[in-house]
Amino acid sequence: MQEFFSRYDHLSQDPIFSLSSQSAKDTRPNKIDLTMGIYKDASLKSGIFKSIKEAEKRLLEQESNKDYLPIGGLEELIHQTELLVFGKRMEGLAGIQTLGGTGALRIGADLLKAGSSVVYLPKPTWVNHHKIFTYAGFKIQECAYYDRGAHSLSFDAFCADLEQAVEQSVVVLHGCCHNPSGMDPTLDQWKIIAQICQKRRLIPFFDLAYLGFGSGIEADGEAIRSFAQMGLPLLVAVSYSKNLGLYGERIGVLLALPGAGFAENVRSHMLALARASYSNPPRHGALLAASVLSDSQLRSDWITELDGMRERMQGLRKDFAQALKVSMPSQDFQYLHRCRGMFSYLNLEVDQVSRLREVNGIYLTGTGRINISGLNSSNMSDVVQAIEKVIK
Ligand code: LMR
Repeated sequence: MQEFFSRYDHLSQDPIFSLSSQSAKDTRPNKIDLTMGIYKDASLKSGIFKSIKEAEKRLLEQESNKDYLPIGGLEELIHQTELLVFGKRMEGLAGIQTLGGTGALRIGADLLKAGSSVVYLPKPTWVNHHKIFTYAGFKIQECAYYDRGAHSLSFDAFCADLEQAVEQSVVVLHGCCHNPSGMDPTLDQWKIIAQICQKRRLIPFFDLAYLGFGSGIEADGEAIRSFAQMGLPLLVAVSYSKNLGLYGERIGVLLALPGAGFAENVRSHMLALARASYSNPPRHGALLAASVLSDSQLRSDWITELDGMRERMQGLRKDFAQALKVSMPSQDFQYLHRCRGMFSYLNLEVDQVSRLREVNGIYLTGTGRINISGLNSSNMSDVVQAIEKVIK
């Protein structure tokens, strides 16, 4: 039976995780890791939110068992997520807790596969979107989204591609802080996208992994809220990895607004998919997240800390653009200001990215995406100088 396994070829490693582990193994003292989407503070540590630490202390004292959560997860977390995303209770909402935002995307993809076979992904998008929807059995179509040369959204081309989309297809949209470009549509542009989805009978599936990292919780939720106001059926994959720093706890929520009268049936399918994949979701992180979101003091501490992170990243963008401009005056880096969230592209070729890694110990993803929070006042000039060298 040994030949049974001969059919498996060797798949390439995940580009983000493999680079991040390569960077972790690099022993050069001055290495700089700008790969994985994990927020780092000014001393380049990832850390734990103070509100989460406090919630954890309380939980340690109060928790008396480690029983399973229900298949759909913690009700309070789903309820708080609904309020966070939509700003109010939504009629006809179906939601379950999931294994991070990725788990929400996968359960959502499996759910939608029953009625749809094509998914439209923005070009570029988070690499894992391709895998998630491929494994769920979708045919992938790419829509123009970002023009790297012009450092801007390809809005007209994006709309034109959606106008051609096959009816009842799924469209993946980044709710805010597009990963990898950092370039989001304006609210007016979102409304136009919503109208196209409505006209073409497309199912918008929002990936919401960076709520609060762009302009704040309320402003970052506006795109999704505008779609919901129009009564469009939609799905949202919410991740608490970044904005509550619960990365390894794997805490996410899948929300669906399937249209009047369909919520219960849709939720029953979500539950069946969850039960068949992992039975029920993680408990510890869910209790922490729900506690921070529902306790007014912890919540306000959390928002303060989140605001500070966002402001730090905005400040870094300004300083980085300025430093790049000083060293390479003929090039335009102003676009870095227009990007939101953790990521931006640097216009570097694959071999230039490799040289930065090999020669300078500066790690960014092969496509030239950087995690802006990996910069600080001590390493920024090294990064700028190294970039100038590889470009020249
Ligand atoms: C990223 O894009 O770096 C993060 O979302 C981490 C991941 O899972 O890829």
